[in-house]
Amino acid sequence: DQSPVKDKAATPVTLPDAQTVTSVKHYTDRLFAFRVTRPRSLRFRSGEFVMIGLMGDNGKPLLRAYSIASPSWDEELEFYSIKVPDGPLTSKLQHIQPGDEIILRPKPVGTLVHDALLPGKRLWMFATGTGFAPFASLLRDPDTWEKYDEVIMTHTCREVAELAYGREVVESLKDDELIGELVGDKLRYYPTTTREESAKMGRITTLIESGEVFRDLDIAPLDPTVDRAMVCGSLAFNLDIKALLEKAGLREGANSDPAEFVVEKAFVGDGV
Ligand code: FAD
Ligand code: A2P
Repeated sequence: DQSPVKDKAATPVTLPDAQTVTSVKHYTDRLFAFRVTRPRSLRFRSGEFVMIGLMGDNGKPLLRAYSIASPSWDEELEFYSIKVPDGPLTSKLQHIQPGDEIILRPKPVGTLVHDALLPGKRLWMFATGTGFAPFASLLRDPDTWEKYDEVIMTHTCREVAELAYGREVVESLKDDELIGELVGDKLRYYPTTTREESAKMGRITTLIESGEVFRDLDIAPLDPTVDRAMVCGSLAFNLDIKALLEKAGLREGANSDPAEFVVEKAFVGDGV
């Protein structure tokens, strides 16, 4: 008897799309980063996201969207994660250890990719919170440095400790064998905090509106013939930056219709 029902029942139960955790680093009580093995067949464009997760208590995979934080040439995959105390996934994910398995669906997608932007001279990367993750990938991608004369990475967080992961990625670039030379002096890093004293305070949106960021960096204001932008943060942040970019004459692009800026949500939340 070859009935399909019986065949299905005979299939051994294994974790689907399992990958093994290779390292974990905690930054604050709300933030951590981890690395996992990479499926051999997985190809992705820096800036894209995948679905990852753990097996739920009901025996079904509990998956969430995560930006890949490592560059496309890396042997492993890196992720940068929030810890939501009662979040279905991250209340458990925050406890993973090297050797543990996670589920990773190898179908990368997303709009925060070079293909969705027309050629330009200067690339702005605007991030808040864990919205830094896709830029951790893009900053380590040689394409970024080959395509632009200048890259400005802004990262706004509530507190200084929340900037640490991003700062580490930025500082690692100059020592990177592969892209250290390509980066040269093209990168301007502009971290700001809003609720704890630091060298630069304020929302990046406020600093753009007042012109302070342009004065600080000694550069001309946003110009659609020169500037390209990639945005990743909360819905409220994305909407506010989008309005500022559009006011400056930049248009939103997509994979199928490249233009001057692209936007990705860092999470789905209460938003505005
Ligand atoms: P959920 O039920 O998913 O979320 C509970 C609440 O927590 C949300 O309503 C929201 O208010 C808040 N929240 C969720 N994620 C975040 C966050 N990242 N920062 C601040 N508040 C948050 N999360 C990451 O940590 N790293 C990533 O690289 C990442 N990439 C994403 C890419 C896309 C395209 C999208 C749509 C989301 C991404 N997220 C990322 C969010 C992620 O999918 C989950 O929401 C998050 O892991 C929390 O899962 P959860 O099940 O614990 O709680
Ligand atoms: P603020 O402290 O003034 O709200 P969150 O943790 O809420 O996602 O915020 C992360 C960082 O992004 C915080 O520094 C926050 O500033 C900033 N932020 C939140 N919403 C916006 C917005 N609409 N425009 C600019 N910055 C924002």
